[in-house]
Amino acid sequence: MTAYGSFPGSRPRRLRTTPAMRRMVAETRVHPADLILPAFVREGISAPVPIEAMPGVVQHTRDTLRKAAVEAVETGVAGIMLFGVPEDEKKDGAGTAGTDPDGILQVAIRDVKSEVGDDLVIMSDLCLDEYTDHGHCGVLDADGRVDNDATLERYAEMAQVQADAGVHVVGPSGMMDGQVGVVRDALDQTGHEDVSILAYTAKYSSAFYGPFREAVGSSLKGDRKTYQQDPANVRESLRELALDLEEGADMVMVKPAGPYLDILAKVADAVDVPVAAYQISGEYAMVEAAAEKGWIDRDKAILETLTGIKRAGAGLILTYWAIEAARALR
Ligand code: PBG
Repeated sequence: MTAYGSFPGSRPRRLRTTPAMRRMVAETRVHPADLILPAFVREGISAPVPIEAMPGVVQHTRDTLRKAAVEAVETGVAGIMLFGVPEDEKKDGAGTAGTDPDGILQVAIRDVKSEVGDDLVIMSDLCLDEYTDHGHCGVLDADGRVDNDATLERYAEMAQVQADAGVHVVGPSGMMDGQVGVVRDALDQTGHEDVSILAYTAKYSSAFYGPFREAVGSSLKGDRKTYQQDPANVRESLRELALDLEEGADMVMVKPAGPYLDILAKVADAVDVPVAAYQISGEYAMVEAAAEKGWIDRDKAILETLTGIKRAGAGLILTYWAIEAARALR
């Protein structure tokens, strides 16, 4: 029997009839081991500090960070990406706290390592913006511009102190030219051949980083447009990708995720290394805010965003929902 003439000749709805059927034919599955938890640890606080623009996310104390790492292991999350938030008076033009072996990030790496050892992949943000008083990702020249090559020297030092602290993976995120190569050399020359590099390959200058700047107490005035990419560009990402691979990236990342799924798909098609995507603070905040107003089904929306990112080609997803999503997916 046909409904009208000879149509429909084919019935794709047959494969959507029951939850079991839909589960069976699903092409994309998000697994806890796909997820990486970004986490902030703040120096000199005795209780976690909520981040207003990221409901449910906090600046951790050293102690609560350890607990979060344990929770990540227990829920089967793949890794943790650590961001240090130093005391305000420790910020300076060179971002000195970022290369202090006793700086907050290095201390946090050691804490997490001693707590969970190798059961969780420990990653660290390798960038100066958390530590500079001007808030830029690099050091400035006499005219106040971000000085690429002088910044690379700082990144080389950061790579060494983070690796000395025991990190498994460093994530250079400052978008300086040559950063992956310099970090690779620095690691190799200091006996850290086994430390991997997750390169922020395609990192766009995005309005969606807004809540993160609160999360790390950034004092940035102005923008990062001379080093982060223009949202209008695609080919530029493929060029950055080629350079990062040539310089020794072990894994590559696209960031933000949601508004850049086309870039993610292209990058994933082009390479044979693991591809990560960073679902950033603003992507998190949008869903949380709409859900709080009752305008969206929060849990379904979260899973849908993660599925979309995976479907576009990400093997790994950095998401502030990592632990919660891992629980829901088990
Ligand atoms: C740079 C860095 C940023 C983020 C991760 N690493 C901020 C920026 O580039 O402005 C943003 C992450 C997020 O928004 O969730 N250290």
